[in-house]
Amino acid sequence: MLNIVVAGTGYVGLVAGVCFAEIGHMVKCVDINQDKVEKMKSGVSPIHETGLEELMIRNYEFGRIDYTIDYKAAYKNADAIFIGVGTPEQPDGSANLSHIATVARQIAESVEKDCLVVVKSTVPVGTNDKVEQFIQDFLVNDVRVEVASNPEFLAQGSAVHDTLYAERIVIGTESKWAEELLTKIYEPFNIPIVSVNRRSAEMIKYASNDFLALKISYMNDIANLCELVGADIQDVAKGMSYDGRIGSKFLNAGIGYGGSCFPKDTKALEYIAKQNGYELKTVKAAIDVNQDQKTMLYKKASKRLITFNGLKVAVLGLTFKPGTDDLREAASLENVPLLLEQGADIFAFDPVGADNFSRVYPEGKHGKGSMTYVDNIDEALEDANVCFIFTEWGEVKALTPEMYKKMMRTPLIFDGRNIYRVEDMQAAGIEYHSIGRKPATRAVAKESTNSELQNS
Ligand SMILES: NC(=O)c1ccc[n+]([C@@H]2O[C@H](COP(=O)([O-])OP(=O)(O)OC[C@H]3O[C@@H](n4cnc5c(N)ncnc54)[C@H](O)[C@@H]3O)[C@@H](O)[C@H]2O)c1
Repeated sequence: MLNIVVAGTGYVGLVAGVCFAEIGHMVKCVDINQDKVEKMKSGVSPIHETGLEELMIRNYEFGRIDYTIDYKAAYKNADAIFIGVGTPEQPDGSANLSHIATVARQIAESVEKDCLVVVKSTVPVGTNDKVEQFIQDFLVNDVRVEVASNPEFLAQGSAVHDTLYAERIVIGTESKWAEELLTKIYEPFNIPIVSVNRRSAEMIKYASNDFLALKISYMNDIANLCELVGADIQDVAKGMSYDGRIGSKFLNAGIGYGGSCFPKDTKALEYIAKQNGYELKTVKAAIDVNQDQKTMLYKKASKRLITFNGLKVAVLGLTFKPGTDDLREAASLENVPLLLEQGADIFAFDPVGADNFSRVYPEGKHGKGSMTYVDNIDEALEDANVCFIFTEWGEVKALTPEMYKKMMRTPLIFDGRNIYRVEDMQAAGIEYHSIGRKPATRAVAKESTNSELQNS
């Protein structure tokens, strides 16, 4: 059992802290936000992640985890301090390291015993070297402080599971002492540990995320071509998925990737390459395809309709993916303003993301258009002229084509997540546009030749 401190209680820091406590370490989570800390002490998670609150409550009751803004008291006796603060994108695409620098300085001024500082945040290659130097420059007490890299691979929506049952743990160290300490911390998880040097660990994180982003953009690119040549992207993906070299995951076409990682990590790696005089053409292509893809539904709908002015538009799903309340880089954030500008009266449903979205687009008039948030999907669909699906929430997937048909004034759907079978929409008499597949028209398909024959 070790004394672990985690700096930053976002998706990465809080989940890591709670999981360290769950496997038996003593954990302190530090944040700068007092309200957040009070909430967490009372067992309320500031983020939506399945299973997180249960583990927070259990480990708090066992006295294995606590939350504080008093970083000095927390850092002073830690065996290891994990940094999980944000590294947001800057206008030029580079990663903003100011939060990392603040924590590094606070650590340098607080530690009173030997301590390993572990950077979990996603940072450009070489950052760990700089963090170590920075801490040495400001170190107040005569203690040993080393820095290790330990990139995080969790996916939002399944963060707790991804941490407790990760496929691998990557550690980047420059000394046996650091390697052994980090290995000791992670041993109870019983997960394969990949031990490399710090720069390789930093690169593994970017290379992994950007590969996945590339895979998504590739499938979206192929999907757009499928539409033009009359192929079906879902059949194409199925055919590809049997090839073990390709794999069956991340082959779904849609309206592009979002969230706090892929968009910023692709841009950051492209920036790192540029700084080193290299053009990373593949990653640049992934970024370009994704940018176009995000407004693909709006473009399709604009071609189909003369105007959105005065139309009731149902928007199903606001978050960048199901299972999270995170809106960062969500496709909804690009499409909703375009619809509002065109005078759409939007009725939006999202089981957990509506509050966050309403902070950016409050309920009420927005120029010619308006924004209304509903708790019930039916209220969004009732009498709607158009429906956009941006997130494949279970609640949305549970709707049958017949329900849309019954509730909407005009059964016209633009689905960015390919939730439905085109044939089913066609059979229900719904005009249905999706990604990489032929549209369904409103002409109701004949019931079946058999029944016709029986009637005759
Ligand atoms: N979100 C993900 O799915 C994910 C996955 C893998 C890696 N990452 C990386 O992990 C890092 C963190 O991402 P996130 O999504 O958890 O961020 P986040 O924005 O959700 O959380 C960051 C937290 O750090 C706190 N903070 C800021 N300054 C602080 C300080 N000086 N001391 C203590 N706390 C401070 C903030 O208040 C906030 O609660 C980023 O580098 C990100 O790229 C994120």
